[in-house]
Amino acid sequence: MKVEAVRGMTDILPQEALLWQYVEAEIREAVALYGYREIRTPIVERAELFARGVGEATDIVHKEMYVFPDKKGQMLALRPEATASVVRAYIEHGLYAKGGVAKLYYLGPMFRYEKPQKGRKRQFHQYGVEALGSLEPALDAEVIDLAWYIMERLGLRREGLFLRLNSIGCPEDRPRYREALREYFLPYREELCPDCQRRLEENPLRILDCKVPTCQRIAADAPRSLDHLCEGCRGHFETLLRYLDALDLAYELDPKLVRGLDYYTRTVFELASRDLGAQDALLGGGRYDGLAEALGGPPTPGVGFAGGLERLILVLGERDVSDRCHRIITGPEVYLLPVGETETAEALRILARLRRAGIPCDMDYAGRSLRKRLQAAARSGARYALFLGEEELSRGEAKVRDLASGEERYVPTEELVAFLKGAS
Ligand code: HAM
Repeated sequence: MKVEAVRGMTDILPQEALLWQYVEAEIREAVALYGYREIRTPIVERAELFARGVGEATDIVHKEMYVFPDKKGQMLALRPEATASVVRAYIEHGLYAKGGVAKLYYLGPMFRYEKPQKGRKRQFHQYGVEALGSLEPALDAEVIDLAWYIMERLGLRREGLFLRLNSIGCPEDRPRYREALREYFLPYREELCPDCQRRLEENPLRILDCKVPTCQRIAADAPRSLDHLCEGCRGHFETLLRYLDALDLAYELDPKLVRGLDYYTRTVFELASRDLGAQDALLGGGRYDGLAEALGGPPTPGVGFAGGLERLILVLGERDVSDRCHRIITGPEVYLLPVGETETAEALRILARLRRAGIPCDMDYAGRSLRKRLQAAARSGARYALFLGEEELSRGEAKVRDLASGEERYVPTEELVAFLKGAS
């Protein structure tokens, strides 16, 4: 029986990986310009981190997390997201001791047992930023600006994108808002889906982002969190809107945007694509001013976002960005064709030398007829084929054929690097 990849987990083949490398390189450069430095946290964490961080009652933890015991019975989880991990690491390594704002970014695989569909996988990849240590709405604005800047660098038009924005207030506002929602939804209790009936007891905010059409219809007229903000949260939001205007960044206020993770406070946002259909969020984020404390650290406000690379690649895949992958090595420039064992030994030495000089090259290892080998050289996309026969070798030379023009010349093997560098 054939063994296949796990459902919802995809291989990224070499041709597509070029696009991934390009996108990742652009993201790394963009976030570095905004002062973010990379953090790499483990893929496996204690399950408790996400139960406490993301929230026991969220779909992500309740239904979608890959949880398993290790040999000692300790419950572990494949990370479903990275914010909780980054905050754990921030506390564990005392990064707060330096003072100021810690700006951290990450790129890597995340795991959620969701129903796979276009733009939704069980192993997917996120890039994300987390800025810890400031309550200033200017930082929210900068983070949102960075999200737009990444899109801009990748050549995505602003008109094809839109920013959903909301504020869900602070823990002091939450009980009042929850109560207002509970009061509103209670008369519809029987019409709500079974999950939302449970949510009505546990956290009625979660009903607002339920995907079941009946629940969505009922939620359409639900009370708005913006109407239940305390003075501090209202002020924060109004200042943020002013900063976004100053940056000329458009937004759409979305009272139903609550996000599927429990750690959020105040600002929440999503940057969505008009071309993606149901799974349209290219990235999502917000403030999480209580998370560090909930994980046992010193009270530290934070704000950040994460985006799915699969979705970004989907949107980018519809345009031709191959010319932008030019900085990435896509194949050999030189293809070596030695004839026998002595020549192969010399070919290996030449390969090593060319590669150390930064010239991508390869050799025919399949040991077939000259015709087949020439075909392989052409297929490789190399500019030159390099022949090494007994005769050439005795003169310390190689025969270099320009595969496009067919032109041939003999070059001393000692001078190959200079010749090839001069030709490029
Ligand atoms: P999230 O909204 O759960 O937020 O995920 C962020 C992004 O990851 C989504 O907008 C989407 O692009 C992508 N994504 C999520 N699930 C999948 C999936 N199953 N397949 C493909 N892509 C997916 C968070 O994860 C928060 N940690 C974001 C954050 C950072 N908030 C503050 N800081």
